[in-house]
Amino acid sequence: MATVVEKVTPAAPPPDSAADKLLPGRHTLPASWWTSEKVLDFEKRAIFAKSWLFCTHESRFKKAGDYFAFNLLGWNFFLIKNKEGDIKAFHNVCRHRAYPVVRKQQGSSIILGCKYHGWSYDTNGLLKKAPHFDNIEGFDPVANSLYEIKTHVSRQGLVFINFDNTEDAVPFEDFFAGLESEMDEFDFGDYEYHMSYELDGQFNWKTLMDGYQECYHCPTAHPGLNLAFRMETYKVVPKGNYCRHYAKIVEEDIPAVVEENDPDTESSWFGFGKKKEVSKAPKKQNPGGSFNGLWCYLFPTNGVNCYSPAWYSIRVLPITAKRTILQYDIYTKKGATADAKKEFVDFLQQVELEDFNLCEATQKNLNNGVYSTGYLHPTKEKGVLHYQGLVSDMVKKHFALEKETGRLINPAALTARQSEEAEELEKICTGIECLGSNPEDHDGLDW
Ligand code: FES
Ligand SMILES: [Fe+2]
Repeated sequence: MATVVEKVTPAAPPPDSAADKLLPGRHTLPASWWTSEKVLDFEKRAIFAKSWLFCTHESRFKKAGDYFAFNLLGWNFFLIKNKEGDIKAFHNVCRHRAYPVVRKQQGSSIILGCKYHGWSYDTNGLLKKAPHFDNIEGFDPVANSLYEIKTHVSRQGLVFINFDNTEDAVPFEDFFAGLESEMDEFDFGDYEYHMSYELDGQFNWKTLMDGYQECYHCPTAHPGLNLAFRMETYKVVPKGNYCRHYAKIVEEDIPAVVEENDPDTESSWFGFGKKKEVSKAPKKQNPGGSFNGLWCYLFPTNGVNCYSPAWYSIRVLPITAKRTILQYDIYTKKGATADAKKEFVDFLQQVELEDFNLCEATQKNLNNGVYSTGYLHPTKEKGVLHYQGLVSDMVKKHFALEKETGRLINPAALTARQSEEAEELEKICTGIECLGSNPEDHDGLDW
């Protein structure tokens, strides 16, 4: 197969500064942050309700009415292409009595009919029909349209949403400053959607992100990836709310992996695993392609990883503190042969499965109440330190805010906006929640 000449050249990583070389290591956050449902519930308000979350690529929406539905920590929402050609996002919650408006993961319809009482909405979320409500005094269809979610589509077609409904919502350009120009190094227009797959993991979302944010584990855990890239060049560079990963590809043909690493045997490159029989294995073209790669971790839970044969995204959707859904979408180079697509998918799935198994086994030990924190390498695990720092900063900031105001603050909430009575009843509910279940504590509540 002829080598593909790329139109763009990915940037090299910035060199290490003198200060980088002197950085001390630091500890991970405590394991309780990986196991507590209450911490996850708090992260939902402190992090997920305030961040720009990558969803998909706009090329997947071919015509008006095409939609994709997602669930993040119980927030059901969908993205839809409207008649004007824009991508809109809405909570998948009927404004009448909260039944889901779309029930499939993906579909196409320019009218979204709720199957409970028959209300229907257009692609801009406007309520178009509410049976028998025509002559009801005071009923305003516009005020009963779907709840819209903020969206941003980058010039490369990457689609993001943000649930934050407060005045403090951070604009996309500030949250991901520099990301859009960084992504210009890759020609997304030259790729088309190929396939998706999903893994259901028994681990916390951060267990996966910990592994994603470093390649310190690659020589031991990823024999195939270790052959495809020069691991000594692997570098994670934090850039605010995203991190760019760099590594040089191996340009010559590489041997197929014939045997798993055995960390207990004699070392190869870094004092870790040895690939036995590698020299005798038949050589083949690098399945990682011919491009050094443009891989970006997008805080908190997503990634966009570009290679020359394909690019793929990962959405990490927390379900509980110890269960997380991983969704992969793969986009292959236009005109690629079925064999080339399969080779890339096999290469990717092997690496992802290796990571998945690391996460499941690690989480079991995080759950056991013995291990609490571990020491991180200042440069090789810089990406882990960085994103865990973002997690703790956002959690601490929100914790201080809730403490100061004395109430639970959910920036994504849309409740009680419609009537004064609803607002008053909401306050009573908050009061009851704060009091807990012990009647002895209820002195302050005047029934
Ligand atoms: S809940 Fe949708 S029409 Fe009633
Ligand atoms: Fe990995």
